[in-house]
Amino acid sequence: MGEETTARRKDSHLDLCASAEVEPAQNSTLFECVQLVHCAMPELSLDELDLGTELFGKKLRYPMVITGMTGGTDRAARVNRDLATLAQKYQVAFGVGSQRAMIEDARRAPTFQVRDVAPTTVVLGNIGLRQAAALGAGGVRKLGEAIGADAMALHLNAGQELTQPEGDRDFRGGYAVVADLVQALGDRLLVKETGCGISPEVARRLVAIGVRQIDVSGLGGTSWVREGDRLRRHSRRARACQGPGARSGRRGIGAAAVPGPASGRSGRGRDRAAAGISGAGASNVAHRVP
Ligand SMILES: Cc1cc2nc3c(=O)[nH]c(=O)nc-3n(C[C@H](O)[C@H](O)[C@H](O)COP(=O)(O)O)c2cc1C
Repeated sequence: MGEETTARRKDSHLDLCASAEVEPAQNSTLFECVQLVHCAMPELSLDELDLGTELFGKKLRYPMVITGMTGGTDRAARVNRDLATLAQKYQVAFGVGSQRAMIEDARRAPTFQVRDVAPTTVVLGNIGLRQAAALGAGGVRKLGEAIGADAMALHLNAGQELTQPEGDRDFRGGYAVVADLVQALGDRLLVKETGCGISPEVARRLVAIGVRQIDVSGLGGTSWVREGDRLRRHSRRARACQGPGARSGRRGIGAAAVPGPASGRSGRGRDRAAAGISGAGASNVAHRVP
């Protein structure tokens, strides 16, 4: 894909989120099935409640990750900086979107730089599996270092690729790439999906090759497969593969045995609580918070 296409797509994603309903309505996350049980005898003072957690060796005030969305254009740079400023203020984690644009054109690197506005909170780099394979594990590590990231998020997006005319069609060799990344990055690696979720089976295999942090997500949040479907009609099969957030999350967390972040419409407060009860260490937010 050309540099212009990558940058244009990132801006059109921002437009879609601002103007269209990008969350599939027809499928439930099943978070509503997770019961929040009332405790009649809390034996604590609300003032003492500490929602803080730890991620990649740093303390967060709230268990929340503003997850990777954008970069590569001037507009994306503003979004990254605004969100990173908020992340710093509230001491939550912030992830940049795919750094593919800065691989294709080094002049786009500043659009991913947020350390001056988020000097201490957790910042995550981001790259897709396919680009990681081309770059090599050392190159991925350098990508993170270039923006002062605490860890790299590796995104898997086979479903999304299938909905794009110029998208990838050959998904072989992925686990070998991840195994190399584990060697190079150790526990500074987070494996995530981009909206379709990571099934327990895949989570188990990832853990078996050494991955420590998995974003256990599922259907319910932003779905680019749905957007692909909206723009092109042939992706119904891909959409059918998405699993509800709570199901993927709960079983994924169990499979991974590592309390990573969860997404899948977990931006809503009650759903965030349900994700936490299901075992997630934090919840992701991409898109608006209702
Ligand atoms: C505008 C937008 C752009 C995104 N771009 C990326 C990206 O570059 N890399 C990535 O890993 N995920 C990307 N995502 C996916 C999110 O990081 C997240 O995994 C997904 O939206 C599910 O989270 P949600 O349930 O809070 O929507 C993007 C999401 C949005 C809304």
